[in-house]
Amino acid sequence: MARKKIGLIGGGQIGGVIAQLAATRELGDVVILDVTEGVPQGKALDMWEGMPVFGSDAKITGTNNYADLKGCDAIVITAGVPRKPGMSRDDLLNINIGIMKNVADNLKQHCPDAFVVVVSNPLDVMVYACQKLTGFPANKVCGMAGLLDSARFRAFVAAEIGVSVEDVSAMVLGGHGDSMVPLVDYCTVNGIPITKFLSADTIKAIVDRTKQAGGEVVALLKTGSAFVSPAVCALEMVESYLKDKKRLIACAAKLNGEYGKEGYYIGVPTIIGAGGVEKIVDLELNTADKALFDTSFGHVKEMIDGLKF
Ligand code: APR
Repeated sequence: MARKKIGLIGGGQIGGVIAQLAATRELGDVVILDVTEGVPQGKALDMWEGMPVFGSDAKITGTNNYADLKGCDAIVITAGVPRKPGMSRDDLLNINIGIMKNVADNLKQHCPDAFVVVVSNPLDVMVYACQKLTGFPANKVCGMAGLLDSARFRAFVAAEIGVSVEDVSAMVLGGHGDSMVPLVDYCTVNGIPITKFLSADTIKAIVDRTKQAGGEVVALLKTGSAFVSPAVCALEMVESYLKDKKRLIACAAKLNGEYGKEGYYIGVPTIIGAGGVEKIVDLELNTADKALFDTSFGHVKEMIDGLKF
């Protein structure tokens, strides 16, 4: 059986780590596409030359040509530009939507059957744009954010209680931004609610840190945003699709009546398998979390309604 083929559109910080992990785990052959000439080729060559040490036969190639993505089973999109001093969020959005138009045109032409995971920010808007512009079925286009926000929540809870991260499970819903909703009711240590271990004040501090976690990394790095944890999470989603693992993962999916909403992408629990986003799990939320989710949905909807395609 031929190896799977994974395409990465955007070969910057996140794309580079995904390529490395995908290849070392032999999840498939990897093609890195970027607009910068030589960089994806150079990165790919460097990584491929290290594969004998990992015992991996995965091929890694770099390109500036979308035709090389033909036949990809899965695509991760990290292409985009970050905000620069003096730029408004709207300026950024308009540039990144322009990039997504170009990406979408090429995906339609070269990878019409791929499962697509969008990572570029602002996430919920970019994934909406990707699905709309490609016209791909909504179950084949999703966004990576909830898994990362949930991982951060898990890490903070595990460290505070002093238990293994393996035993902490958590779910963060809503938009990928300040309005995200870490669900305390659904955060447990092997099924035991975290309220058995932590005070209300400590839990509140963890929830607040989770919401600001991306910004905490940016403030330290100063010249970029988190790239290792986003890469690991995006690859986890790709793996669940390629291996039909049916992982239950929080990701940005297009609602169709779940949570009383439809027609927009936002972070919700999903099951990802060979059918892409096979199911959206419609959780019962307490009154406070439901209100927060509705507010978050309102923010995302407002941004999307303001888009000019
Ligand atoms: N087509 C392909 N690649 C592009 C395009 C384009 N039209 N425009 C820009 N790129 C590439 C850049 O050349 C760069 O290599 O996208 C890459 C983005 O990489 P980084 O700037 O290193 O950003 P990264 O940290 O990887 O984050 C990517 O994910 O989490 C989000 O906020 C983050 O939107 C950002 C994205």
